[in-house]
Amino acid sequence: MAEDHKDTKSSNQMWGGRFASGPSAIMEEINASIGFDKKLYAQDIRGSKAHATMLAHQGIISAEDKDKMLHGLDTILSEIESGQFVFSRKLEDIHMNVEARLADLIGSAAGRLHTARSRNDQVALDFRLWVKEELQKTEQALSRLIAAFLDRAEEHADTVMPGFTHLQTAQPVTFGHHCMAYVEMFGRDRQRVRHAIEHLDESPIGAAALAGTGYPIDRHMTAQALGFREPTRNSIDTVSDRDFALEFLSIASIAAVHLSRLAEEIVIWSTPQFGFIRLSDAFSTGSSIMPQKKNPDAAELVRAKTGRINGSLIALLTVMKGLPLAYSKDMQEDKEQVFDAAESLELAIAAMTGMVTDMTIRTDKMKAAAGSGYSTATDLADWLVREAGLPFRDAHHVTGNAVAMAEKKGCDLAELSLEELQSINAAITADVFNVLTVEASVASRKSFGGTAPSEVRKQIAWWRARN
Ligand code: ARG
Repeated sequence: MAEDHKDTKSSNQMWGGRFASGPSAIMEEINASIGFDKKLYAQDIRGSKAHATMLAHQGIISAEDKDKMLHGLDTILSEIESGQFVFSRKLEDIHMNVEARLADLIGSAAGRLHTARSRNDQVALDFRLWVKEELQKTEQALSRLIAAFLDRAEEHADTVMPGFTHLQTAQPVTFGHHCMAYVEMFGRDRQRVRHAIEHLDESPIGAAALAGTGYPIDRHMTAQALGFREPTRNSIDTVSDRDFALEFLSIASIAAVHLSRLAEEIVIWSTPQFGFIRLSDAFSTGSSIMPQKKNPDAAELVRAKTGRINGSLIALLTVMKGLPLAYSKDMQEDKEQVFDAAESLELAIAAMTGMVTDMTIRTDKMKAAAGSGYSTATDLADWLVREAGLPFRDAHHVTGNAVAMAEKKGCDLAELSLEELQSINAAITADVFNVLTVEASVASRKSFGGTAPSEVRKQIAWWRARN
């Protein structure tokens, strides 16, 4: 799309005599938003077509003028889409650029399009429509990521790995269970997206500058034509409100935090020291100097995108803080934050979906690590409670002694002999060895939401029915 800085008509000329001269170069630069809000061209044209149709239906403009407008607006849409449209910074924003071009195309009838509306409700409309579409795209992208995790979880419902707290080995879990933790997180993100779509599903057009209008407009008609549930109820709030943008950014920030935690795990898991996964060539890079290296760049960049996305949320919260009702030009700063966060989020979700789908799970490495670090110590304590009737606190103490003995010998709990275990507590029998393996440990954790493969499969089925 071309952009001109030549002497075309300026917005001051368009609204007439009050402004004797055009804006200074610096004023033009700080004031213009066309550089970024041209992204809203399709929404702007859709909104204008709905508005013109309603104006004619209500007898506010003639059917003839309306037809000219619709035709002209369609022409502008194809000019923009084919890259022929010349955007002018002197015309400030997308709204004025479209309207000025409409005047070139259809003459004086174009001047009637702005009847009973203002750029304040117009920009609120365009931006809402854009954010609504972006939320719908985000919902789909999250569904694809969830589907990728469900496949990996199913494949690895029985694969054991160490579960961590404080990044210290805690108890054995299954890799399927770990994948399903992310399904829960991204499932919550998707719910938030759905709620946000519901919250913003009200049409702002017709609020006009802030007070509504004396023309007999039909806001229900435009709301319906534009796919909104209903019109907004308070014209002052309508042109002041950017909650839908803040909500998008807060949802994006929480999702980005989830993506970043996953990215961090992928970075850790793919180190030679952990070796739990191998990233595909498609999602890693080599080093220009160290031939042995395979770096998880995509995961690192996903982790870093969180900074931009969270930054955008803080930026817009700060822009909105303390603004008096109704519209202030400060609000023009809303768009770049949302556009940048949306682009980053889309890319991060897509990259993660690819990494999760492509990565090789090294089940041998996971299993070896699952058994180290005395990860079945809790199972020994539970056995003492269940089979020998010890109070849990005493069982915890006995198990601590067993871990200390194994540590001294440099072996695993399951490698201590029965005699050695009995020297710590005489009630221990050979049956205890049935719970000291990692497989027995995970299979026993059948509580609702627990790590047992049977339980994980139930959760996978629950999500499959909802994805
Ligand atoms: N470009 C402006 C924005 O993004 C459009 C609304 C301008 N309204 C006004 N009264 N100056 O907010």
